[in-house]
Amino acid sequence: MSDPKKRVVLGVSGASGAAIALRIGKLLTDVPDVELHLVVSQAATRTLEHEVGPDALVRLIDLCHHHHAIEDIGASIASGSFRTVGMIVAPCSMRTLAGIASGLADNLLIRAADVQLKERRPLILLTRETPLHLGHLRNMVSVTEMGATVMPPVPAFYHRPETIADIIEHIARRAIDLLRLEALPLAKEWQG
Ligand SMILES: Cc1cc2nc3c(=O)[nH]c(=O)nc-3n(C[C@H](O)[C@H](O)[C@H](O)COP(=O)(O)O)c2cc1C
Repeated sequence: MSDPKKRVVLGVSGASGAAIALRIGKLLTDVPDVELHLVVSQAATRTLEHEVGPDALVRLIDLCHHHHAIEDIGASIASGSFRTVGMIVAPCSMRTLAGIASGLADNLLIRAADVQLKERRPLILLTRETPLHLGHLRNMVSVTEMGATVMPPVPAFYHRPETIADIIEHIARRAIDLLRLEALPLAKEWQG
């Protein structure tokens, strides 16, 4: 019997842009039939607190249907037999990018990303660092060759954002659209 739930994994690592994770979490849980699985790196607990506030992690966990501990490498999302429609890593640090690029699946976030790649499912990485050295760029090439989509959370200005929330909203919606779920797209289309 097929499972009607669309399981999505949201990985949050310790790059700047923690607020994007909260917005993606909220938008995804608003999509009918989505079951959201969250995994947060240790560094991300710090960036969430520093950039969003002391209650950010709790708010994020409360939003999602399932929260898996980063060290729980035996969690459901660590296995390819657990069907998911894909994963977003938002934001994706250079450390986590390197782990995914090398296949060094030593925590649950990187293992879950590795699973998406091996099962040929969408993996969207909101890689955030600037400037970039050659190693960062090489890792982005490697994950792209393996099937991931590298989507740095770079603001667009053609929709004339007035607030930081507007910028976050656009990035979050574009990232979710890359999962190609039904009942979408969420991002406003450019009509010329
Ligand atoms: C406030 C703050 C902002 C950071 N921003 C970035 C960033 O934008 N990109 C990045 O690659 N690392 C950034 N780091 C460093 C990472 O958190 C660090 O490399 C960490 O080991 C990443 O671990 P993780 O990939 O397991 O989350 C930041 C750290 C802090 C405390």
